[in-house]
Amino acid sequence: MKLAVIYDSKTGNTKQAAGWITEGMNSVAGVEAAAFSIESVDEEFVKEAKGVVVGSPSYAAEMTPAIHDWLLSSGGKVELAGKLGGGFATVQFTHGGGETVIQSILTIELVNGMLCYSSGGACGMPVIHLGPVAVNNNVEKHNGLELYKDTFVIYGKRFAEKALDIFM
Ligand SMILES: Cc1cc2nc3c(=O)[nH]c(=O)nc-3n(C[C@H](O)[C@H](O)[C@H](O)COP(=O)(O)O)c2cc1C
Repeated sequence: MKLAVIYDSKTGNTKQAAGWITEGMNSVAGVEAAAFSIESVDEEFVKEAKGVVVGSPSYAAEMTPAIHDWLLSSGGKVELAGKLGGGFATVQFTHGGGETVIQSILTIELVNGMLCYSSGGACGMPVIHLGPVAVNNNVEKHNGLELYKDTFVIYGKRFAEKALDIFM
């Protein structure tokens, strides 16, 4: 079962987070997960995928224009309807809009007919509310981001297990 992670990233943080989610997904037997930059999405792979997780840095507490445009314009082409959907974000500041970004991503996914999943509190710790958020805590690239690695890997694993439950 294929799963896709799609992200926008200018300075590497969201790309790193996407890699952690993919690592968690690929730890589940029977799953083939791949991450794609918004600039080079493999549309055939995404079309075949049973689940798609979309991630963005917070830009003024919003997703980036590229992620927004892709979600609005590509839903039909890659057949998002009926797939499992998720969202994640990276931010510079603790209250820098990570959850707002994820909520906006999930909203467009729902409008596209996706089934959205985060694991919430149903799997114990870590409780992942709307989706995982990584905080840089500093203007330095990657500073502090590693603290969030485990949460992103666990999120990827839970997402993959749920997709297997539903589709296989
Ligand atoms: C134009 C712009 C706007 C940003 N706005 C916010 C913001 O509102 N809140 C925040 O916490 N970080 C903000 N940031 C910081 C990025 O969200 C953060 O550094 C993110 O991890 C960058 O991801 P990337 O390395 O994948 O590009 C902004 C960065 C840019 C370039």
